Parts: sequence; C-alpha cells; structure tokens
Amino acid sequence: MKCNNISFSSFRNIENESLSFSDGVNVLWGRNAQGKSNILEGIYFFARGRSFRGAKEREMIRFSQSAATLSLEFSKEGDRYPVSLSANIPADGRKTLYRNGARLSGSKEMMGSFRAVLFCPSHLTLVSGGPALRRSFMDIALSQLYPAYLDSLSRYNRALNQRNALIKKAQGTGKIAFDTMIWDTYAEQMATYGADIFARRLEYMEKLSESIEMLFSEMTLGAEKPSLSYRSSALTDSGDETRDAGKAKLYEALTENIDREIHFGATLYGIHKDDISVRLNSKDAKIYASQGQQRSLALAMKLAEGEMSRKISGEYPVFLLDDVLSELDCDRRAFIMRNLTDRQLIVTSCEPDVFRSMAGGSRLIEICDGKIKEVCDG
Ligand SMILES: Nc1ncnc2c1ncn2[C@@H]1O[C@H](COP(=O)(O)OP(=O)(O)OP(=O)(O)O)[C@@H](O)[C@H]1O
Ligand SMILES: [Mg+2]
Repeated sequence: MKCNNISFSSFRNIENESLSFSDGVNVLWGRNAQGKSNILEGIYFFARGRSFRGAKEREMIRFSQSAATLSLEFSKEGDRYPVSLSANIPADGRKTLYRNGARLSGSKEMMGSFRAVLFCPSHLTLVSGGPALRRSFMDIALSQLYPAYLDSLSRYNRALNQRNALIKKAQGTGKIAFDTMIWDTYAEQMATYGADIFARRLEYMEKLSESIEMLFSEMTLGAEKPSLSYRSSALTDSGDETRDAGKAKLYEALTENIDREIHFGATLYGIHKDDISVRLNSKDAKIYASQGQQRSLALAMKLAEGEMSRKISGEYPVFLLDDVLSELDCDRRAFIMRNLTDRQLIVTSCEPDVFRSMAGGSRLIEICDGKIKEVCDG
C-alpha cells in the first residue's frame, strides 16, 4: 500500500499544503514544533478514523478557523486506479468523510481501506506499561483488518458503559434489582460481542507471537526467545473453546458475580480486563526484562503488526515513524531500517543526517512553520 499524497487546509498549524511521497523512505525533517507530527497525524487519521494523539476532533482545526479539511490519495497493489479519501472537520457539528467523492456513513465505513502502522515514542512502553496499552495495540491493528471487529468493540463498550453506570446506581442505593432483566440484557450483549472479540484477539496473538519470535531472534542473533500470549480474565486462553462455549462462560461470569461487582463498583470480567502476557526466555518481561529488552520487544511487536497486516491483507501497510528513531540506539535503528526496506516509510526527525545513508528512492522533505520548505529526492 502506498500513500501517494496528502493535502491539508486549516489543519493544526498547516494553512494550505499538498505533499507527495516517494514509494520508499520519506523523511519529514525540521526543527521542533514545525508541523512534522501534525502531518503524520493527518495521514494516520485515514487509517484510524481519529487522531492518534487522542485529541478531540475540533482541536485539529487551525486556531480561529471554522473547519479543517484533509484529503489523501493511496494506491493498492494490483489496483488500476488510486483511491482518494477526504475529511471535513467542522468546529460545530460532525465530521464528514468521503471515498472517491462518495459520502461515507462514518469512520467505521472508512476503516480498513487505507492501512498504516504508526510507531511513536509512547509505543516503546508497550511491554512495560499498563494492560490498556496492549489492548489498544490489538484493537487498533484488528480494527484495520476486520471492520466487523470495530463494530463488535463499539457495541461491547456501549453495553459495558451502561452496565457500569447501573453498577454505580446499585452501589448508591444498595440494591441490585430495579429490573433484573436489564442485567441479563447487558450480560447477553457483552458475552456475544466479547466472544467475537476474544476469538479474533486470540487468533491474532498466536500468529503475532510467531512473527515476533522470528524478528527478535534476528535482532538479538538468536540469543533470546520471546513468547507472547493472550490472557483472558474470564475464558481459557488455549483456543480450544468454541465461540459458543466462550460466550456461555462470559455470560456466566457476568451474571454470577454481580454482588462482588457492586462492591468494587465496576464490571470485573470481560475482554476489557484482558491483557497480553509477554515473556522473554520464559520469564515475565514486564518484571525481569531490562529497559533495553522491553524496548526491543515493543519494536518487534510493531514490526510484527506490519507483517500480520501483510499476511492477512496481502500487502504491507504504510509505516509511519514519529520521532522514534532518535529514541533507539544505533543497532536497533539499523535493524529497523534494514527490516523496513521493502515498503513505504514516512518518518519524522529533527536530524536529516540520520538518513544520509539511505538507499535511492528516498525523499527528504523539510518542514518549517507548517509549510513545505524544500523537497530533495535521493
Ligand atoms: N489547532 C492548531 N492550530 C494551530 N497550530 C496548532 C494547532 N495544534 C497544534 N498546533 C501547533 O503545531 C505546531 C507543530 O506541532 P507538531 O507536533 O507537528 O511539531 P513537530 O514538528 O512534530 O515538533 P517536534 O519535533 O517537537 O515533535 C506546534 O507549535 C503547535 O502549537
Ligand atoms: Mg513531533
């Protein structure tokens, strides 16, 4: 997959710019606070349907403007014509999205068409940080690969939020039941969507673990052996469980522990409590691995996310690296560059020198105060 070009109007500090990319390595370079990450945020918006900074949509509109617009054109291997996606984000009202000029119903309909893997400094804590980071890693990857996954996830989260509100209400009054049926309804919904999500995550992690093992062995010359597996709060992780059995178990966990949940004030079982266990040489990497090893594992997870996307969809996604190379030592930096040679890369950096040794087909784009100052093809 190749991102051919992107144009911005009133997006962050970018007034009006169009930018085209080469098929190989593209380096967006410039001093701090010039707009490099803003450009990546714009590109990734089309893969994720929202900002990777967790920003509210209206925060992406250039100060004192009424709307931001962005358009991206990308090409898929084997397709004759490129695809264009565009977004209009008004300060008041909802964003509108278009594919090849036709209006889409929302982000869910857009996701899955343009695929990208983003790697930024916060991902370096994927192993050392909390479980929410690792769940979000799976959710973002799977939502781009399977549109139905995102649908199950949003339905699950809606039921979870309503159930949590009910728990809080019951905690306040000291009584479970205003209407016992409602607990069953939420349990049924969460078990149905939860079992779908569980099955996808489990299958994904089994394959991702194989990929990580290979990448890591290459990175450390076979000295260390990682293994990753899915950890469920309510289901067995062996993968033997059928979807119906998984659903029944989740339903049981959600209907038999209500008193305990009211005591703790939250839903204690379900896929929102699950995690990925990361082990290195059979030991828990979160506890025993060094900071360098944890970062290498995080790096391998991100590279493996790209491998998985290629295996499932047939081609590599676009790789977006925000400031991450400066955070890595030269061996890891060399590894990442070696590994990402056969796909399109768009990276930001304050030092263009890092990329002097890059192969032909690269493009160096200097960004200054939200504008493209200079483009050099290497
Ligand atoms: N809505 C907005 N309107 C106008 N400017 C904005 C808006 N949001 C952010 N900015 C500005 O955009 C500028 C560039 O931000 P960006 O994060 O892209 O910088 P960067 O080039 O990646 O810098 P660094 O190297 O420090 O990461 C910042 O100075 C910020 O104040
Ligand atoms: Mg930046």
